[in-house]
Amino acid sequence: MEKKERLQEKIIIALDVGTKREAVALAEALKEARVFKVGLELFTAEGPALLEEAVRMGKKPFLDLKYHDIPNTVAGAVRSATRNGVHMLTLHTSGGKEMMAAAARAAQEESARTGKGRPILLGVTVLTSLKDEELRRIGFAHTVADQVLRLAVLAKDSGLDGVICSPHEIEIIKKECGGEFLVITPGIRPAWAAAQDQKRIMTPAEALGKGADYLVIGRPITGATSPHEAFLRVLAEIMGSGLNI
Ligand code: C5P
Repeated sequence: MEKKERLQEKIIIALDVGTKREAVALAEALKEARVFKVGLELFTAEGPALLEEAVRMGKKPFLDLKYHDIPNTVAGAVRSATRNGVHMLTLHTSGGKEMMAAAARAAQEESARTGKGRPILLGVTVLTSLKDEELRRIGFAHTVADQVLRLAVLAKDSGLDGVICSPHEIEIIKKECGGEFLVITPGIRPAWAAAQDQKRIMTPAEALGKGADYLVIGRPITGATSPHEAFLRVLAEIMGSGLNI
């Protein structure tokens, strides 16, 4: 695969819109983007038909529903997602080892059974909306930083492929979990984009330079006058940074 194609797979577009019409318009406009993140709002509104439509358009759906339930139920959801052609999905690592291991087994088995690709399973550690004080209130004894690391290691031991984390946690997670363990990071802002409500941001090249395997980018691309131009600009910014991708 060429460098540009590898990069196209690494930049995930967050489809934070409420309707299939808006989502499809963005996916059509973003001709060169391959992976699209569908979250709770869009999936709750439009359901799995949207995933089928994405696959039909030659796009790869990233289903960000953050599964968190008993192992049997999460395994069932992962089997359904696999049948729907989901490329990546998220689950809460605080669901525990048994839940994550059941999800990993389900993805493997359903992929073998159906011949569809096995989805990449990504753990959510601590929501960035939670601070140390709130963690204590819900009964966790550790700081956010310790808890993130602890859950990342547990995710790896349970058979997940990687975790979602802040760009500032990439290096420590890679150090603890190894280079093969995937790290996906939002909080990305190209040098030319506004930070909006994101606080601890990095540019795409900085995050990739620190070892991120995938970047999730929403508004700097989807909110641009021309999302297509903005996507190409992000690609050019990374290609021009001299990074060895
Ligand atoms: O528009 P923006 O680039 O800020 O979008 C980032 C995407 O990543 C959104 O879908 C947001 O929900 C998600 N995300 C995040 N921070 C986290 C976890 C997920 O921004 N800690």
